[in-house]
Amino acid sequence: MPVSNDAPAKGGDPRPIGVFDSGIGGLTVVSALRRLLPHESIYYLGDTARVPYGGKSASTVQRYSLEVASLLLRENAKTVVVACNTASALALSTLEGQLPVTLTGVIRPGAQAATAVTRNGHIGVIGTRATIKSGAYERALIALNPDVRVVARACPLLVPLIEEGWLESEVTDKVLMQYLEPMIADGIDTLVLGCTHYPLLRPAISRLLGDAVTLVDSAENCATAVRALLQEHALGASAEGAGGLHVALTDAPDAFLRVANEALQLDVGEIQLRTLI
Ligand code: DGL
Repeated sequence: MPVSNDAPAKGGDPRPIGVFDSGIGGLTVVSALRRLLPHESIYYLGDTARVPYGGKSASTVQRYSLEVASLLLRENAKTVVVACNTASALALSTLEGQLPVTLTGVIRPGAQAATAVTRNGHIGVIGTRATIKSGAYERALIALNPDVRVVARACPLLVPLIEEGWLESEVTDKVLMQYLEPMIADGIDTLVLGCTHYPLLRPAISRLLGDAVTLVDSAENCATAVRALLQEHALGASAEGAGGLHVALTDAPDAFLRVANEALQLDVGEIQLRTLI
């Protein structure tokens, strides 16, 4: 579909960047966007009524993603960021085919960063079951460099541990090592954190893996891709703009919002509740 949400650069485009995730984890992407693009307004929608997406089928994730992204367009989003790895893996091309705005997912930016930093061409990817089953990271990595060797692993126990706030805990360390040891033994030198939640475990993973493995955070790289897209399509806000963050959820927030807020030091303000249909 043609991109119709482009706006002239003069004076900047004050419309919000729409960001969505299956829940609250996508605030890791919001945090990276706020740091990189402080003058932009962000409208974040977390589908907390239907989280998690990570164990659902492709057709369900596509339907949910279309509903959530459509609400962002009704909020006048100038571009949409699919902050959820599972939705990026399973629904980005569906959204691109049906929505009249530019879209940025997290898979390609993460893959680009990983191929740029790997020294031995051996890259590990961790994510939800649905993300890993889709093979989206492997395809993106191999499209960028056919010589890379990719080992991917679903880590379904990590999201509940993170949502519980167990970011630095013996139990989390044990689970992480159970997942990561085979990849390390396999010789990866780069690990893609392919789930919205995983940047919150970055300190623990760095501590466990040390300097030998470079961590690629899909949130940071997604924010860099959004900045490039805004420039390319003349969609950036004015440098005088104050920017801001508006957070809406499809169900009442739970304890994970506090965990994410504390870890990311984000000021989410008052949460709005939205229904999708
Ligand atoms: N947001 C999801 C992702 O990045 C993780 C949580 C879920 O399973 O919905 O894959």
